[in-house]
Amino acid sequence: MSIMRNFLNMIILLCVCLNWCFTEGAEKRESGKVLDSYTIQVSSLFPSSSSCVPSSKASNTKSSLRVVHMHGACSHLSSNKDARLDHDEILRRDQARVESIHSKLSKNIADEVSKAKSTELPAKSGITIGSANYFVTIGIGTPKQDISLIFDTGSDLTWTQCEPCLGSCYSQKEPKFNPSSSSSYHNVSCSSPMCENTASCSASNCLYGIRYGDGSITVGFLAKEKFTVTNSDVLDDVYFGCGENNRGLFNGAAGLLGLGPGKFSFPSQTTTTYNNIFSYCIPSSASNTGHLTFGSAGVSESVKFTPITSSSSSSHYGINIIGINVGDKKLEITPTLFSTRGAIIDSGTVITRLPTKVYAELRSVFKEKMSSYKTTSGRSVTDTCYDFTGLETVTLPKISFSFGGGTVVELDGKGILYPFTISQVCLAFAGNDTIPAIFGNVQQKTLEIVHDVAGRRVGFAPNGCS
Ligand SMILES: *[C@@H]1O[C@H](CO)[C@@H](O)[C@H](O)[C@H]1NC(C)=O
Ligand SMILES: *[C@@H]1O[C@H](CO)[C@@H](O)[C@H](O)[C@H]1NC(C)=O
Repeated sequence: MSIMRNFLNMIILLCVCLNWCFTEGAEKRESGKVLDSYTIQVSSLFPSSSSCVPSSKASNTKSSLRVVHMHGACSHLSSNKDARLDHDEILRRDQARVESIHSKLSKNIADEVSKAKSTELPAKSGITIGSANYFVTIGIGTPKQDISLIFDTGSDLTWTQCEPCLGSCYSQKEPKFNPSSSSSYHNVSCSSPMCENTASCSASNCLYGIRYGDGSITVGFLAKEKFTVTNSDVLDDVYFGCGENNRGLFNGAAGLLGLGPGKFSFPSQTTTTYNNIFSYCIPSSASNTGHLTFGSAGVSESVKFTPITSSSSSSHYGINIIGINVGDKKLEITPTLFSTRGAIIDSGTVITRLPTKVYAELRSVFKEKMSSYKTTSGRSVTDTCYDFTGLETVTLPKISFSFGGGTVVELDGKGILYPFTISQVCLAFAGNDTIPAIFGNVQQKTLEIVHDVAGRRVGFAPNGCS
């Protein structure tokens, strides 16, 4: 009798166990497919060479501009659209930007001032522009002239090349801005409080000057103008640099739109209209467009925020990175790894930079999950590359970042790899301990990224471009 009961109990136990094991296994398989990985078309990693697929968001949202890749099918600035992107050059300039962020952090003000004096430039030093891959087109002056400017959350002052180019101008695709044909142009006088930290004057006009880390410069008049975002959004008296002496590699753009945290940045200056809030989306490929939207129009309900931290770089937005997940694995990261140098989010850095220990851990888990794919040699700053020749789809482990305040952001499938060619597609991360961690623009792709500067927070939501 008791033997029988024991036997029955065993059977029940066995059933329960089998059932449990079975469902557990099924859930694991399910999550392996649905939750921990994405399957993407290999072709979708590469831009189509001929047709532009514009984002509907830019045209349907108030106060919105298109974000266009400099060398893609949607760009009117690139003269050789069909030419392959020069990825080595893009990443070489990306590294230069990263290094200039580093050197800017480590320099002190005295160095800046003495350097500025020795070259008779006003004392301002910008970081290297980097690969300057994305631009927006905005109206300046009355009547407005459409001017295409590099989109940069790591710079403050907006500037454009100005006629008559008293010093010199580099060549740009569009006609240069001509202040003498605008009725709303005003030079800023040296006695203006806005001229306070600028070292030079010409006659009584305030001069500005920015020397970028790569030797590029722009010097000219600090001026005020009417900026036209859209027909219904016209902003008077925006301070900008009217560049009379400009040298450098700005990819044929007419100048730069500064979206940084400083007082001269476009969002800071237009606070009364847009509350110092802007959002943007970096498109999935060079043949798609994204958007840059001022104010809170169109900001999705699903945005999750993380606090802006004080960054060691005054022209960057600091954030806290708490952790990273690769597939079903949480990387073992001690919080101090990030807290030593902090982290920033930057529209102008391409490849995300992480502390070397964190990167090594990410790479090792990624490699393990990608072990069925053929590997190939590294290139530029990337060291983990795959040959996808002959494959239609690939399955990648999902990568998500946990930011301060508990916000978890899952990267898009396009936000993980840097595709040089189909036979060399590389993990778009790199390790470096001498700089802050940088959440770069590959990882930002297709996310809606909200800079609520007034509220001191950065927000993220999926599907920001569509
Ligand atoms: C890290 O960055 C520094 C300065 O920006 C650079 O000199 C160095 O080569 C980089 N190290 C690696 C491992 O890439
Ligand atoms: C701005 O200053 C420059 C240099 O003095 C001068 O040539 C130009 O006419 C001024 N523009 C206006 C609108 O005052």
